[in-house]
Amino acid sequence: MKALVWHGKRDVRCDEVPDPAIQEPTDAIIRVTSSGICGSDLHLYEVMGPFMNEGDILGHEPMGIVEEVGDGVGNLAVGDRVVIPFQIACGDCWMCDQSLFTQCETTQVRDQGYGAQLFGYTKLYGDGENSIPGGQAEFLRVPQAQFGPIKVPEGPPDDRFVFLSDVLPTAWQAVEYADVPEGGSVTVLGLGPIGDMAARVAHHNGSRVIGVDLVPERLARVAARGIEVIDLNDHEDDLGDTIREMTDGRGTDAVIDAVGMEAHGSATAKFAQQATGLLPDAAAEKLMKTAGVDSLSAVYLAIDIVRRGGTISLSGVYGGMADPMPMMTLFDKQIQLRMGQANVRRWTPAIMPLLTDDDPLGVDEFASHRVSLDEAPGAYEKFQKKEDGFVKVLVSP
Ligand SMILES: NC(=O)c1ccc[n+]([C@@H]2O[C@H](COP(=O)([O-])OP(=O)(O)OC[C@H]3O[C@@H](n4cnc5c(N)ncnc54)[C@H](O)[C@@H]3O)[C@@H](O)[C@H]2O)c1
Ligand SMILES: [Zn+2]
Ligand SMILES: [Zn+2]
Repeated sequence: MKALVWHGKRDVRCDEVPDPAIQEPTDAIIRVTSSGICGSDLHLYEVMGPFMNEGDILGHEPMGIVEEVGDGVGNLAVGDRVVIPFQIACGDCWMCDQSLFTQCETTQVRDQGYGAQLFGYTKLYGDGENSIPGGQAEFLRVPQAQFGPIKVPEGPPDDRFVFLSDVLPTAWQAVEYADVPEGGSVTVLGLGPIGDMAARVAHHNGSRVIGVDLVPERLARVAARGIEVIDLNDHEDDLGDTIREMTDGRGTDAVIDAVGMEAHGSATAKFAQQATGLLPDAAAEKLMKTAGVDSLSAVYLAIDIVRRGGTISLSGVYGGMADPMPMMTLFDKQIQLRMGQANVRRWTPAIMPLLTDDDPLGVDEFASHRVSLDEAPGAYEKFQKKEDGFVKVLVSP
């Protein structure tokens, strides 16, 4: 089959690789019909390189048609249309019983000290020395298929459902964790796919939403939905003050950080990222895990913007272990901080009723680009550089 394969920093290629096969009774194989490229994939494209191996297949936002099921998968049949959550969870361990599917105790990557396995996402969330083969490919082996796959109806185009694998539950959890009071306000930092969708969800819930980014098309997409936006380019030094002026001097009740570790303004992060690129893998891994990489510029903005006693919800992914946090300010402002990978299946029942022909969240038009697997390497580059209006790319294998 054809698949998108990681070869090195900023080097992904469409290669011929062996077809996947059923390995466990709880596996299924799907033929992928659509597969998202995520902001999280951009971390692998560059910064997280030390945790990737040449040959790893990328992608964690697939949907498709069931081709084959193992003996232990009673709930799926060949031909079913399914969306695959980005994490692999068993659905019946202690953590899954708490709906903490990203902490699944059956798939937790104990040898690396990390949570549940993720598709196409480094050995930290992988299987031994390799990542779990991902879904930017013609076919995908789905472990724990007795629980993960979300069956969706025939009829509407893939765009209607594909975001159930990541963008929708991640945005939904970001908003839930932000815990905005009735009629309250939330700032969304970063208007990539995740922040854009989080802004839509919070707006749909009736909250006042202020979106912040620095890419004109991204600001425009969100503004077009009647949401207030601020261009960070105009407020590099006074974003907190500006938002306080807009909110009776207090700041918003909550802030969602949908930026993550590659924030604009993280000069030291750039340096650390470049340095890791020059080191041999083992040394680079250590630097990435332990160095204070100062990748926190979006978090610092969030801490400044949130009102006293408010909540910060982090959905952006962070890396380093030694990043300094302003504990005095966090404590003094009495800030609540919640974060983590989205527990996908937890939110499916709440989201599904919004995926109707009325399309209140605008999922049908959400993808800005659709490309083939052969075109995907070019799309990674455009998406990383945020060129030509690349906001959300779907790959059609
Ligand atoms: N928690 C989860 O389960 C989960 C799931 C998916 C993605 N993510 C993470 O969410 C983050 C966003 O994902 P995405 O797909 O939207 O990625 P993206 O890279 O397309 O979006 C990030 C946006 O932040 C903007 N930005 C950069 N610096 C900023 C700053 N200082 N202030 C405001 N905006 C700034 C960029 O211009 C960009 O539009 C990434 O870190 C990704 O890894 C987390
Ligand atoms: Zn994703
Ligand atoms: Zn589990």
